[in-house]
Amino acid sequence: MSVEAQKYHEEDAIGKTYDLKVAGRLLRYLKPYWKTATLALTLTFLTNVLISTQPYFTKVAVDDFITPKRTDGVWLFALAFFGVFLLRFLFSYAQEILLNRVGQQVMFDLRTEIFTKLQHQEIAYYDKYPVGRIITRITSDVDALNEMFTSGVIDVLGDLVIIFAIIGMMFWLDWKLAIVTLITVPILFACTNWFRKHARRGFDRVRTRNAKLNAFLQEYLSGAQTVQLMNAESKARKRFHEINDDYRNANIETIYYYSVFYPLVDFIGAFGIALVIFSFGYEHLPTLSSAGEAISIGILAAFIQYSLQLFQPIRDLSDKFNVLQAAIVASHRIFILLDLDIDIKSPEHPKKSGKIDGRIEFQNVWFAYKGEDWILKDISFAVEPGESIALVGHTGSGKTTITNLLMRFYDVQKGKILVDGVDVRDWDLHDLRSNFAVVLQDVFLFSGSIEDNIRLGNKEIDHDRIEWAAKEVRADDFVRKLDDGYASLVKERGAGLSVGQKQLISFARALAFDPKILILDEATSSIDTETEQLIQQAVERVMEKRTSLVVAHRLSTIQRCDRIMVLHHGELRESGTHNELLGIRGLYWRLYQLQYSDEKLHISAPANLDSENPIASMS
Ligand SMILES: Nc1ncnc2c1ncn2[C@@H]1O[C@H](COP(=O)(O)OP(=O)(O)OP(=O)(O)O)[C@@H](O)[C@H]1O
Ligand SMILES: [Mg+2]
Repeated sequence: MSVEAQKYHEEDAIGKTYDLKVAGRLLRYLKPYWKTATLALTLTFLTNVLISTQPYFTKVAVDDFITPKRTDGVWLFALAFFGVFLLRFLFSYAQEILLNRVGQQVMFDLRTEIFTKLQHQEIAYYDKYPVGRIITRITSDVDALNEMFTSGVIDVLGDLVIIFAIIGMMFWLDWKLAIVTLITVPILFACTNWFRKHARRGFDRVRTRNAKLNAFLQEYLSGAQTVQLMNAESKARKRFHEINDDYRNANIETIYYYSVFYPLVDFIGAFGIALVIFSFGYEHLPTLSSAGEAISIGILAAFIQYSLQLFQPIRDLSDKFNVLQAAIVASHRIFILLDLDIDIKSPEHPKKSGKIDGRIEFQNVWFAYKGEDWILKDISFAVEPGESIALVGHTGSGKTTITNLLMRFYDVQKGKILVDGVDVRDWDLHDLRSNFAVVLQDVFLFSGSIEDNIRLGNKEIDHDRIEWAAKEVRADDFVRKLDDGYASLVKERGAGLSVGQKQLISFARALAFDPKILILDEATSSIDTETEQLIQQAVERVMEKRTSLVVAHRLSTIQRCDRIMVLHHGELRESGTHNELLGIRGLYWRLYQLQYSDEKLHISAPANLDSENPIASMS
């Protein structure tokens, strides 16, 4: 199986599960609204009983008034007819409103529950599932459920009511004709069953492929720039074409079943009516001419109407059944998501919460994202409060991984990570993370104002503090130049701001929050010298009086740290000050040589670097 196929495998597999337990669990969501739901159900019942009286009115009209040419009492009859239909109108109006309200409430509750769950979902989950598919869960799966609440289940019950009411009425009117009318019902059921099976399969396919389409779009639209840069449009278009084609074919296939099914049902219905007329004629016509038997004409009219009325719910039943099944499948998927165990959560009795001093210790840490693919091997080190450590190493050596583990985005397989002497797994998760300020390689900005992006929802941070933080990291200058200053809106994902500016904003964030530990994952991308200097100053400002773990690429940053640790293929190979490490002429020395020659070639080193850098001035 290709990776792609594997990725979507789960999506396909679940489609076959059908579970009454799921239905039972769904009913629980109705609980808070049971009064409204019961009322709606009663109204559905009444509406359908009223519908089944309609042909009886026809019979009375024909037999009691039209054929005998009578007019006395006709106004009363008309009034009754009108009354019944008025009631039916009112009942079904109220029922529709109530049902929809309940459906919307339940969807609202579900969406909230899913979102809350997703918020606490561990990061490994997002590594595994494409965002497009997660979005499908919260949108179309919930919609499928809504359809069930508003048209599926209740209508199925209503349909059953109407079917039984009609059959009862028919037997009451004329049992022989009733039997003739019912002859076609088994055929109808067989036909319906065929349709249900195929349409359901088709429906599953439509849904699965829709999820694929969403996942694809999500990925390619977020990567639009890369796609264009790589001139990969035609390849992407081809792939999109395939997915789009699959989706269309799945839709067309279901349409095929629908387009055969409905006319077929009509045909069977017409056949049934023909049967009724034929047998009516066979039995009654010879006697009709000899007056007095006219009463049967009304019955015939009523039976024709009853047959039509009977076929409709049987036909719809299959459709509703599909809606029901689709909803069950959708909710099954939703429940799987809701039931996923989250391993990374606060322990029941956290050993530690609140503010910290900022001591970090890794004790023989082994970590793999998958299986035994060790990314970190037996890493041990300690950072004292206020100390700053630079992590250096080749790309993929595990630097970012170390910072992820420290904030417990993943759990280690072996060993321990301690913050202030307490295992991160024994910490209150929220408190643990609130002690970190993070400036990541890829700064993420939300849509909202610059100010919102610095504050990140923390109400304790007022405007003055934001301005202060921005000034401290020198972000103030460029923010003021924006049209609306701090109120300027940041476009999605920070489009419209340079990498350096985004970094400065995230430094301001870090300073405004003022936590004890700073994690800085420097961007590797080169920025112009002026911004480089600005950022360097910002880094220094934010590192002051804090424990800092810095994934550093810039010499200036590295040298300012108290200690440098060199990671190589997941192992901690060297540790010491800049000079010590150069002295042993090992990995760091080689990295330094590489970078230094690079800097000389490409970037003019910041002016202050040379004077403070013994090695640079040595060479
Ligand atoms: N979410 C993930 N799932 C699986 N493997 C991952 C994941 N994130 C990183 N890796 C792997 O772990 C290894 C270490 O990655 P990490 O991001 O820690 O490297 P790094 O030292 O920060 O590199 P860089 O300097 O490029 O940022 C890499 O081989 C990477 O492929
Ligand atoms: Mg990294």
